[in-house]
Amino acid sequence: MTFYEWRQNSQLDLIEANIIIKQATGYSSARLISQLHESIPSLYIDTLNELRDRRLKGEPIAYIFGTQEFYSRPFVTTPDVLIPRPETEHLIDYILQNFDASETLNIWDVGTGSGVIAITLKLERPNWNVFASDVSEAALKIAQKNSRLLGADVIFGLGSWFDLESRFTDDTFDIIVSNPPYIKKDDYHLTQGDLRFEPQMALTDFNDGLDAFRILAREAINFLNPQGYLCLEHGYDQARKIQAILENYLFEEIQTYKDYSNIDRVTIARKAKKK
Ligand SMILES: C[S@@+](CC[C@H](N)C(=O)[O-])C[C@H]1O[C@@H](n2cnc3c(N)ncnc32)[C@H](O)[C@@H]1O
Repeated sequence: MTFYEWRQNSQLDLIEANIIIKQATGYSSARLISQLHESIPSLYIDTLNELRDRRLKGEPIAYIFGTQEFYSRPFVTTPDVLIPRPETEHLIDYILQNFDASETLNIWDVGTGSGVIAITLKLERPNWNVFASDVSEAALKIAQKNSRLLGADVIFGLGSWFDLESRFTDDTFDIIVSNPPYIKKDDYHLTQGDLRFEPQMALTDFNDGLDAFRILAREAINFLNPQGYLCLEHGYDQARKIQAILENYLFEEIQTYKDYSNIDRVTIARKAKKK
């Protein structure tokens, strides 16, 4: 059987079939095109079929290959962590564009998952001190692995929200950033597509989707510098509710920004000046 025939019979879409062939064989795109009508070497057949079967059962490509690109860097991605999303790059862009690269800022990424936010910020802004935490020990191991592989000097801690096994530092933070679980418990998306394979605790608060924001707004005040910033990623329809939560905890200068699909995605707020 040729690569072309395997691809035609695979029931995968063309792009995914090509990705799987390249992954199984190690061929470049150019080599695959040049050998498309040649017989598949027998050593590749079992792997190709196994990867095809996993994909046809719905397993996300990122978990099948164990990696996902974020901000042009490869991150190890296993079923212990949320698959990094392009929307989260918007949160990174906001922070990179609005905070001084030359200052030594302290940043805490709460609910770091694979570590994409913390590691990207550290690599883009080496002057900044970046800390990251998660309640999931398994996720934290992946984040630590990513920071080693990508050479990012991030300090990691285990614990629920701000309650860590041991404190990172006695200092307070200039920026607290989080992309917390924000899907409502009964949202049908949880039973669709890639989300079926992702850790539930990375996706939902098992309530109305706002619990994490309530905790972050209430507790972040204790860990932020005077006039420090809380930077939050959230769902498309949550901006107004999150703004109200932040106002309730006396944050100021609350602004929501749209992502590249023109959807409300990031809300930033500043710790109020002491009156
Ligand atoms: C939406 S994922 C975000 C992961 C990563 N920051 C990203 O943007 O790809 C939410 C993360 O919050 C973590 N999380 C859930 N509950 C938590 C808690 N009580 N304390 C700290 N982290 C929590 C999950 O384990 C998960 O890694």
